[in-house]
Amino acid sequence: MSAGNEDYRDTGLEFPAGFLIGSATASYQIEGAVREDGRGPSIWDTFSRTPGLVWNGDTGDVACDHYHRVESDLDLMAELGLEAYRFSIAWPRIQPTGSGPANRAGVDFYSRLVDGLLDRGIRPVTTLYHWDLPQALEDAGGWRSRETALRFADYARIMGEALGDRIETWTTLNEPWCSAYLGYGSGAHAPGVKDGAAALTAVHHLNLAHGLAIQQLRDVVRNDPDFSVTLNLHVIRGDHDTSPEAIRRIDALANRAFLGPMLEGAYPTDLLDDTAAITDWSFVQPGDTDLIAQPIDLLGVNYYSTVTVRMWDGRSPRANADGHKDVGGSPWPGSSDEVEFLAQPGPYTEMGWNIAPDGLEELLVSLHERYPDLPLAVTENGAAFADRVEDGRVHDADRVDYLQRHFTAAHRAMERGVDLRGYFVWSLLDNFEWGFGYSKRFGIVRVDYRTQERIVKDSGLWVQRLADTHRVPEPRID
Ligand code: FCB
Repeated sequence: MSAGNEDYRDTGLEFPAGFLIGSATASYQIEGAVREDGRGPSIWDTFSRTPGLVWNGDTGDVACDHYHRVESDLDLMAELGLEAYRFSIAWPRIQPTGSGPANRAGVDFYSRLVDGLLDRGIRPVTTLYHWDLPQALEDAGGWRSRETALRFADYARIMGEALGDRIETWTTLNEPWCSAYLGYGSGAHAPGVKDGAAALTAVHHLNLAHGLAIQQLRDVVRNDPDFSVTLNLHVIRGDHDTSPEAIRRIDALANRAFLGPMLEGAYPTDLLDDTAAITDWSFVQPGDTDLIAQPIDLLGVNYYSTVTVRMWDGRSPRANADGHKDVGGSPWPGSSDEVEFLAQPGPYTEMGWNIAPDGLEELLVSLHERYPDLPLAVTENGAAFADRVEDGRVHDADRVDYLQRHFTAAHRAMERGVDLRGYFVWSLLDNFEWGFGYSKRFGIVRVDYRTQERIVKDSGLWVQRLADTHRVPEPRID
C-alpha cells in the first residue's frame, strides 16, 4: 500500500462500514420506452427530435432499453456488488402532462424497481427531477413559471405516498444549475432557451420547487429517510490578479445561488447586484426563501472537473472553456461579457474536461468547513473515454485511473474530517449524454446500442472489488 501520492494514486485506503459504494443513472438517459404505458412527452423528447440540437440526431427513444430490461439490469447491479443505486423518476411517466392524477403504470414501474433493489440488498437513492420536465409544463412557461414549482410539489407528494415506505434517500433535484443556466441561458440543454433573465427566474423556481417538495415528502413518508438535493458545485480557480473578482462572480452564480437560499435562507446580495441589469428578482416573493430553506439531511455533490477564470479585458478574444457545449447563448447571466474561462492543463477526458482529483478533495473540505453539520455524498463522479472492445472485454484503464484518483481524493477529505456518506460512480451504463447523444461513454458497463448487450468494463470489475473489500483496489484488472 502506498500512501499520500501527490498524484492521488493510492491503494488500500479503507472506507468505513456504512459508507455506500454505488452507481448512478437518470431516467431519460437509460430508460427508452418513451411512448409506453402512458408516459407523456418531456422537454428532452422535444429537444432531441429538433434537428441540429443533439449530436447525430440521437434521442432517448430507445437508449439502454432499461425500461424493458430492468430485471436483468438489477441482476447486473447485484453482480457488481453495488450497495446503493441512484436513479431518477421520469415525471412524465407519473403525470403525463405534469399535473393531475398519477398514472398507475408509471408508479408501478418505479415500485418494481425499488422492490427489486431491496430484494437484492441495494439501497434505493431516488431523484425526483433529473431534467425530464413534462412538455406540457414547458408549454405553460416551464421553470420560468412559478406554477411549475407548485406542480413539482404535487408530483413529490404523489411519489412520497407511493414509495414513502421504502425509499431511503430522496433527492429533489439533480443539478438545478444545468436545468436553469443550460436550459434557459445557454440553450445547450432542453428546452433550449437563450435568455439570461429566464435562466435566473428558473434558478429561483427550481429552488422553490426543492423547498416545497421537501415539505410534501416529509408530510407523507412513513419511514425515516434522508432528504437531500444534488448540486454540481463549481470548483473555481484563478491565474491572474483579476481572478478573485471573477471567482466571486462565478461562485455567486454557480454555487451560492443555490447554497444561499437552500442552506442559509437568503440569496447572496452580490448575486443580486451582479445581475441587476438583467432582472430585479421580483419573482422572489415574500416568504419564498424561508420555504426554500427546509432542513435537509444530506447534500449530494456531483464533481467532474474544475474551471479557471479571470476578468475579460474586453479586447483579446474571449476564452470560454467552461466545459459546456457552445450553442450561442451564455450560461453566465450578468457575467458573460465580464468573465472569461481559460483552458486548463490536461489530461482531459473525452468530454474535454480536465482531470483534477484535488478539486474534489478541496470541494468536499470547503463544504464541510462552511456547513460542518451537513453530511455529504458524492452523487456523481466518473469519466467518458473512447472505449474499445477487444475479445469481448473493455480494458478502460483511463477510467479505472480516474476513479482510483477520485476515490483517493474522497478518502483524503474524510481523513480531514468530512462526513462523507457514500460515492456514486457516474454511470452504471453507457447512456444518452444529453447534447452529445451516444457519442460519450461514461459507463462502467458498456452498452452495445445495436444489440443492447451489456459488457462489464474493467472499471466495473474495479468497482466490484472496491464494493467487496471497501478498500481502494489496485488498478490492475486481470
Ligand atoms: C451531469 C449529469 C449527468 C451526466 C453527467 C456526465 O451533469 O447530471 O446526467 O450527464 O453530467
